[in-house]
Amino acid sequence: MNMDELKRQAAAKALEHVQGGMKLGLGTGSTAKHFVDLLGERVKGGLKIIGVPTSEATRIQAEACGVPLTTLDEIDHLDLTVDGADEADPDLNLIKGGGGALLREKIVAAASDRMIVIADDSKWVPKLGRFPLPIEVIPFGLGATRRAIESVFAQCGLTGEMVVRPGKDGHAFVTDGGHWILDAKLGTITDAPRLGTLLGAIPGVVEHGLFIGLANTIVLAGSDGIRVVER
Ligand code: A5P
Repeated sequence: MNMDELKRQAAAKALEHVQGGMKLGLGTGSTAKHFVDLLGERVKGGLKIIGVPTSEATRIQAEACGVPLTTLDEIDHLDLTVDGADEADPDLNLIKGGGGALLREKIVAAASDRMIVIADDSKWVPKLGRFPLPIEVIPFGLGATRRAIESVFAQCGLTGEMVVRPGKDGHAFVTDGGHWILDAKLGTITDAPRLGTLLGAIPGVVEHGLFIGLANTIVLAGSDGIRVVER
């Protein structure tokens, strides 16, 4: 079975948790895209839900699929967010942001009663850090922000190359919020909660891709079937 089929299976499993009347956070990325697609089919079949997208890409896809949308300004909470991840560890801490939507993804996940992560089982790791950590930054003062981030890495016993994520035509990739992303190749992160706290306190860092304590459930699809891990 190919990777895309595994992603769709994970998305279909998460859809079993969706009930009529729910307010849903809609994730971003190739796995979440399957979920939005399958959700759209259920909506066409009569399911009544409302969604909050975590990116412009998901907003455009959800609208095309006929999924009704709202914003976090118009509702007071979300019942459930379903999103992908770049890595997940046994504590259900995550690295996200490979698709560049980490800021809205984290706002939406934090506003949700529950978060279900959907992924193929290649995303499951004993410790986070194999995937480069995305850090969303304000372009102004980037040199100072970089030095502060490197100092935090040193405090956490980490070293590694950090690059501005490239976009089109030799320019930096620009997020939906108008910011840039630094991708940091760190290797094993021994204390992800501490690293997250320290990074979050740096002026110029808008958000980072460590999702600590946000995911409640992960649905992992592999060639030997689906595994569900709960926190
Ligand atoms: C988007 O910014 C990311 O957080 C994605 O959720 C993550 O990169 C997983 O994407 P895939 O499902 O495409 O692997």
